[in-house]
Amino acid sequence: MKFFVDTADIAEIKELQDAGLIDGVTTNPSLVLKANRPIKEIIKDICDVTEGPVSAEVAATDFDGMLREGKILAAIAQNVVIKLPLTLDGLKACKHLTGEGFKTNVTLCFSANQALLAAKAGATYISPFIGRLDDTNINGMELIADIRRIYDNYDFETEILAASIRTANHVREAALLGADVSTVPPATLKTLIKHPLTDKGLESFVADWKKTGQTID
Ligand code: G3P
Repeated sequence: MKFFVDTADIAEIKELQDAGLIDGVTTNPSLVLKANRPIKEIIKDICDVTEGPVSAEVAATDFDGMLREGKILAAIAQNVVIKLPLTLDGLKACKHLTGEGFKTNVTLCFSANQALLAAKAGATYISPFIGRLDDTNINGMELIADIRRIYDNYDFETEILAASIRTANHVREAALLGADVSTVPPATLKTLIKHPLTDKGLESFVADWKKTGQTID
């Protein structure tokens, strides 16, 4: 599974990139608002610190606007992926932009039928929102399972990018179900590293090593 970090915070991205923990970055208008900087500066700075795919979302909701904005965002760097909402205009823009050789990430996916249409439109990535389905008492992970089965039935190359991930267990379950990517908030990504028994065991090793009186030179 590939890990993308879901943030527009450059410092967070750089820390995780330097640790070798991430394969790409996803952003969206809410994360741009949170970063409180011009989107083109944000995306350029992100692309300067990571070689992996960087999803930048259009703001337009009409076909022509999506094409115009998508090409502006894609011109920032070669690893920009144009993020488009799963609407009629978004699917039309996805088909058009993919046909022109751009990489696309179709987002705000909440049903298997939506994901099927995105794959048929040639999307590079599909972003099903697990957490937001869970919020409505619908099991978001069942959507991941459905999409995986449908994409495998027809050998679609669109990659399942599990999104709206809120917990370490979301990552585990998405991986068990065969999602290609999880895009994870920085804080959640860091929890994947932690386990109390690891901390306890290391504390014990450090204490015992100190008792040996040895050094490794
Ligand atoms: O990539 C989508 C993600 O940013 C949405 O997360 O927690 O707002 O549903 P959330």
